[in-house]
Amino acid sequence: MTFQLSEEHLAVQEAAREFAQKELKPGVIERDATMSYPYEQVRRMGELGFLGMMVSPEYGGGGMDTLAYVLAMEEISKVDNSCSVIMSVNNSLICWGLETYGSEEQKAKYLPKLATGEWIGSFCLSEPEAGSDATHQRTTAVDMGDHYLINGTKNWITNGGTSKVHLVMAQTYPEKGHHGINAFIVESSWDGVSIGAKEDKLGIRSSDTHTIMYTDVKVPKENRIGGDGFGFKFAMKTLAGGRIGIAAQALGIAGGAYELSVDYAKQREAFGKPISEHQAIAFKLANMALDIEAAKLMVYRAAWLKDQGLDYNAASAMAKLFASETAMKHTVEAVQVHGGYGFVKEYHVERLMRDAKITQIYEGTSEVQRIVISRDVLKGSLYLPQ
Ligand code: CAA
Repeated sequence: MTFQLSEEHLAVQEAAREFAQKELKPGVIERDATMSYPYEQVRRMGELGFLGMMVSPEYGGGGMDTLAYVLAMEEISKVDNSCSVIMSVNNSLICWGLETYGSEEQKAKYLPKLATGEWIGSFCLSEPEAGSDATHQRTTAVDMGDHYLINGTKNWITNGGTSKVHLVMAQTYPEKGHHGINAFIVESSWDGVSIGAKEDKLGIRSSDTHTIMYTDVKVPKENRIGGDGFGFKFAMKTLAGGRIGIAAQALGIAGGAYELSVDYAKQREAFGKPISEHQAIAFKLANMALDIEAAKLMVYRAAWLKDQGLDYNAASAMAKLFASETAMKHTVEAVQVHGGYGFVKEYHVERLMRDAKITQIYEGTSEVQRIVISRDVLKGSLYLPQ
């Protein structure tokens, strides 16, 4: 067992940190306030290789492992979580899902554009009445012989306004329940795809979250991912990896708030000395460090399990659950450490506090993570080191 990052991992971490601090931090407050989509920043993420990190070089990706992706997510999430959610969905739900389960033709057609950020993708599972209860898909995909006809509505779709490629889950055989669900690659330019207004959100405000409507959208047969009825398994398997990305986002949010709090506590004076020398503040910093360290071990381990080809289903749920709760708890504390300054935008911690909340909700709520973990506990399939 080693707790040392390799030279390559350290280089990725450093590159992401530099990009986040130099290129994302200026302007992040304004983008958040005005809900402006970070076009230029996303273009740069593509240029720097952050949008297809785990994709094989033959499809234009970085060929890196999950741990490298997690390290980059963590650094970018210390600063700009609108950018990091765009990155997370594109890397772990879209590119990974397509490369792992797509046909050779699908990979050759879509991955080079997605891995370089020329195109961005959306993962379209949630519906107005099927969020946590994802097996109850109401969107339908009727088999018309040489194509499917898709009808339905998806909501809370990250990248919904900008993505060129949607991975859409839809029900083909209602009588078969979740075994009747299929997953499809749909292009946003196709007839019948319409995009609702951008959501005005509490956090990750400059990312574009939309409702998407599909009305008689013709999808060629060759755009179905995997065998007939594989769609729900596709969604679950892909989300298990996606949760590692969101866990890394939460870890970054907590880490960003912690770093800002330590710096502030050392320079702000009260009662004749820096507030860091008052135990009331020093203990808050110690508690933050403690939980962040624990979350880090869980997130890196989940990434390591995935990279080793071992079962990471419960490990990713645990990492997401613990890291997101850490992010929420300690961003609130970071605002408290900053006092009145924490409550204004200029000091960044109030934004991180608002951003933290969504990590307890998307890619499965904290309650869903507990379902996933408890099922593996009861099945006896929870992977624990021997
Ligand atoms: N891998 C493979 N198969 C899996 C699986 C996994 N990780 N998890 C479940 N399955 C399979 C089960 O084995 C079962 O198949 P069989 O019947 O063949 O055995 C099938 O899926 C159904 O599973 P369950 O019986 O456990 O279904 P359930 O309804 O009781 O609960 C759930 C499942 C875990 C709650 C699931 O519905 C779930 O994860 N819900 C949350 C959905 C979610 O995360 N949505 C996020 C949207 S994406 C998003 O947020 C992206 C974004 O834009 C940021």
